[in-house]
Amino acid sequence: MNFKQQLNAYKTQVEHALAALPFEGAPDKLKEAMRYSLLSGGKRLRGCLVLAACEAAGGNVQSALPFACAVEMIHAYSLIHDDLPSMDNDTLRRGKPTNHIVFGEGMAILAGDGLLSHAFEVMAAVQNENAFAALSIMARAAGVSGMLCGQTLDITLEGTQPDAHTVRKIHLGKTAALLTAPVTAGFTLAGADKDTLTAGQIYGENLGLAFQIVDDLLDLEGDAALMGKTLGKDVQEGKLTWPACVGVEQARQDAAACIDKAVQALKTLPINTAFLQEMALSTLHRVQ
Ligand code: IPE
Ligand code: IPE
Ligand code: MG
Ligand code: MG
Ligand code: MG
Repeated sequence: MNFKQQLNAYKTQVEHALAALPFEGAPDKLKEAMRYSLLSGGKRLRGCLVLAACEAAGGNVQSALPFACAVEMIHAYSLIHDDLPSMDNDTLRRGKPTNHIVFGEGMAILAGDGLLSHAFEVMAAVQNENAFAALSIMARAAGVSGMLCGQTLDITLEGTQPDAHTVRKIHLGKTAALLTAPVTAGFTLAGADKDTLTAGQIYGENLGLAFQIVDDLLDLEGDAALMGKTLGKDVQEGKLTWPACVGVEQARQDAAACIDKAVQALKTLPINTAFLQEMALSTLHRVQ
């Protein structure tokens, strides 16, 4: 299988597993709001990273599937809340009206909460000696020193002068945390050693930084139809972005340098990381 075929195979597994989640006991309205955002497309990058990392380190892909679902649930929750009027105030996501536009703000908040807590329920049910360590990785990434740290700085520093140190901290939190955790959790589930985890951390952080720099660039010059969201919002809202800090040309070069670091980190490992390397390279030229 080439990279594209493997990516599609992982994506299909994640998609099926997400669609099969029963959300038992949830009122119909809540289930509907959760599924609206969870099953609305998306690249499934984070879920695929869990499966790819686990497989690369010699683990069982099937047993990593709940973690792939969990990170996609945490990601979907973060997007629902990110789009709220009190945060980025967006009306379009994945080419569809945002959750609060369809279900109202109250239900959007609850749908996000539901996805976050269900992610932990799903991970806690995994019978694997390394599952608790992997769950802890996810908790930290989603939490106050990870995604929430980045999101806090992102909304509270709107309209201020960007500097490289601060923007890097925002990107590491709001984006890189949830791209690093799937890799290190996937490795952990497979029982990987310390060197592998360290390389996974460096890979994920740099992949995440590049991913957010490219997101910032696409907000300036992307194709709105492909992106499925309203572009030009970062300038409008005074967001601290990498291009705003260093300029568009430098931002492109910095994204490429991060991807190079990500790839190099994996090259030191004695396992087959070809897929993860390709994944990082493809991020650089993404159009959606
Ligand atoms: C969007 O993430 C949020 C950012 C961190 C920029 P993705 O671009 O991975 O979103 P989906 O899941 O493919 O819609
Ligand atoms: C979103 O960053 C990061 C999280 C949701 C955690 P952005 O606000 O830049 O993402 P988009 O542009 O809305 O997808
Ligand atoms: Mg945001
Ligand atoms: Mg946003
Ligand atoms: Mg953005």
